[in-house]
Amino acid sequence: MLTVQGPAAIETQQPVTAGGAPIVARGVGKQFAGKSGIFTALEDVSFDIRGGEFVSLIGPSGCGKSTLMLITAGLVPASSGELVVGGQFLQRPLTDVGIVFQDHLLLEFRSALDNVLLQAQIRRLPLAAARGEGERILGKLGIPELARDRYPRQLSGGMRQRVSIARALIHKPSILLMDEPFGALDAITRTQIRHDLELLWMETRKTVLFITHSIEEAIGLSDRVLVMSPNPGRIVDEIAIDLPRPRPAVLGEDASFNAYAERIHRAFLRMGVIKY
Ligand SMILES: Nc1ncnc2c1ncn2[C@@H]1O[C@H](COP(=O)(O)OP(=O)(O)OP(=O)(O)O)[C@@H](O)[C@H]1O
Ligand SMILES: [Mg+2]
Repeated sequence: MLTVQGPAAIETQQPVTAGGAPIVARGVGKQFAGKSGIFTALEDVSFDIRGGEFVSLIGPSGCGKSTLMLITAGLVPASSGELVVGGQFLQRPLTDVGIVFQDHLLLEFRSALDNVLLQAQIRRLPLAAARGEGERILGKLGIPELARDRYPRQLSGGMRQRVSIARALIHKPSILLMDEPFGALDAITRTQIRHDLELLWMETRKTVLFITHSIEEAIGLSDRVLVMSPNPGRIVDEIAIDLPRPRPAVLGEDASFNAYAERIHRAFLRMGVIKY
């Protein structure tokens, strides 16, 4: 269980800004017990995400990114340390949150719009208003009107991911957690969807924790990038990305982009995750 000490509400270092709640992790660790003993997946992970900030977590496969996201959502208990979300110690699953998984996890028997509305139905939101909001978000994410009645198998991979993002936003959560949402998409679709997500985020300024393997995607989207090392998962670097928004599709033309990319690359070299 997460340790709960002190008052139920505490001051975070950074104030809440438009739309989003701050997330603070302090000394979070996670151990799994297995047949061959205890495995430490996360060790002493601390971060301080401001309300409305877009933060990416980048690290090699198996370093504990998904575990950290599930702990942040309150869906998996940490073995040690604590999380403070919106000024409250995290003690149960977050409800004011939207989660996008790597796999779109859409229901095959519901249309695109009805998949988005599922979230509203579960939360017992007024359906007429939710329908309007769902259509608006799908529009912002580039889903044409004629595709909204299609079933998931009738949508392209990129469209399915867009629908799952819309489903995570329909209830206007103050926190969005995204676990490699574009991992299965082709490079062209990834660039477009990255841009669409950035515009949508600029409009709403939710707090976003975005997990990715892609250096370009992390720099293209984030205010800050947290770099993780494996075995055990730790945060080894934290890079503030000072580039104007919206960011261009081709980032490599910008000298500062290249400097950020080089820094992340060097962190992976030091960890031995890559060799050249
Ligand atoms: N429930 C569990 N029981 C035992 N070990 C687990 C469990 N969940 C995760 N792990 C282990 O913890 C480590 C981190 O897993 P996690 O899924 O968080 O990695 P990841 O960084 O998200 O990887 P990827 O980029 O491949 O998705 C891995 O070694 C994984 O096998
Ligand atoms: Mg993962």
